[in-house]
Amino acid sequence: MSKKLFIETLGCAMNNRDSEHMIAELNAREGYVLTDDASVADLILINTCSVREKPVHKLFSELGVFNKLKKADAKIGVCGCTASHLGNEIIKKAPYVNFVLGARNVSKIGEIIHKDKAVEIEINYDESQFAFKDFRSSPYKAYINISIGCDKQCTFCIVPKTRGDEISIPTDLILTEVRRAVESGAREVFLLGQNVNNYGRRFSGEHEKVNFTELLRRVSAIEDLERIRFTSPHPLHMDDEFLEEFARNPKICKSMHMPLQSGSNAILKAMKRGYTKEWFLNRAAKLREMAPDVNISTDIIVAFPGESEEDFADTMDVLNKVRFEQVFSFKYSPRPMTEAEKMEEVDSEVGSERLHILQSRHDEILDELKEVRMGQIVEVYFEELRSDGYVAGRSDNNIMVKVKGSEELLGQIARVKIGEVNRTVAHGEIIA
Ligand code: SAH
Ligand code: F3S
Repeated sequence: MSKKLFIETLGCAMNNRDSEHMIAELNAREGYVLTDDASVADLILINTCSVREKPVHKLFSELGVFNKLKKADAKIGVCGCTASHLGNEIIKKAPYVNFVLGARNVSKIGEIIHKDKAVEIEINYDESQFAFKDFRSSPYKAYINISIGCDKQCTFCIVPKTRGDEISIPTDLILTEVRRAVESGAREVFLLGQNVNNYGRRFSGEHEKVNFTELLRRVSAIEDLERIRFTSPHPLHMDDEFLEEFARNPKICKSMHMPLQSGSNAILKAMKRGYTKEWFLNRAAKLREMAPDVNISTDIIVAFPGESEEDFADTMDVLNKVRFEQVFSFKYSPRPMTEAEKMEEVDSEVGSERLHILQSRHDEILDELKEVRMGQIVEVYFEELRSDGYVAGRSDNNIMVKVKGSEELLGQIARVKIGEVNRTVAHGEIIA
């Protein structure tokens, strides 16, 4: 009987891809098959996130639960950013954990499972050229890493300390992976990195200097590939050449993530984001002008240390001017090993109130956008069968759309007229 693997993945798209890589390696080398029942698994992996404090706390209570329900001889491994950050502390606190594998050491999964109490968290380990085996959780779209690590030093962010320096994955490896995904049926690829439009600044070894715009051109030249998405670009590196390619290239989906973080110039400076409110507004306006169908999403942090009422008002001003289609908003959470950790915090209740004000205003904007969306005709790539007789997918500009239908629609791209819309999903009808 084959060995069973249970894996829980927290955090960002890159963690999801790391989990796919681990599943692929464990399957190809060790014959593991996936199970969604931890109590029958021979190996339990938790792929953790450390970007905010809450999930880190949750890890230890979860580990306790897994330890109780697991089979007697099953192993538990902790992977991902919290593994990189806490290392051996995890085994000290939860001695039944068999190994700890950092976010930068994913390629070592096949070896570490055979070691007991092993900790592999080398932050400068270079796995940018490691050829992982294939596994994709969706047959319809493929997540593909284009870089590892992050070279920015945003003062609130722990990621550079858990994922290390940025190294771009060689262009030819990326193109080979895209081709393979397309040959196996994916019509959409999702290019991943902490800072994708910084692509090409540093490779390991000698490689042709290809920047992100050029990478997009080369990926889009692959026949039978229909859609390209990517996350996350950095507003600082949104030069004209990049925006022009984004607008012009029909394979690039018209949905852009522009992580604002704050609308205040003083706070942006304290965060070391490298751009101003004016630059951000200019880029967003240019983008909407060049690609009128674009939907823009963002990340916002409220109550960063030192954030005054005026600073917060600047963030609200950007929210009102750009009218983002999607906002991921967070209350600042101090993280170890970051510069901002030592700065004086804003009162927690003030932070919660600002988060509430921001989210309520965004909900109003979404309600206003509903009117605009109704009646629009969009192209939807169907990828998910819902239990209620609906099939769901995303429009080119990233609206989640569901229509009545069955599995024949999966993997199809169809024109849909949008009817009733709520904040997160639109109902539609397929038209000829
Ligand atoms: N470059 C990555 C950022 C990863 S962190 C990307 O764009 O995907 C994802 C988001 O979490 C950040 O954009 C930021 O808004 C939020 N975040 C990061 N550190 C945080 C902290 N200390 N407190 C609150 N939110 C944080
Ligand atoms: Fe974090 Fe800033 Fe990099 S948010 S991941 S340090 S771009």
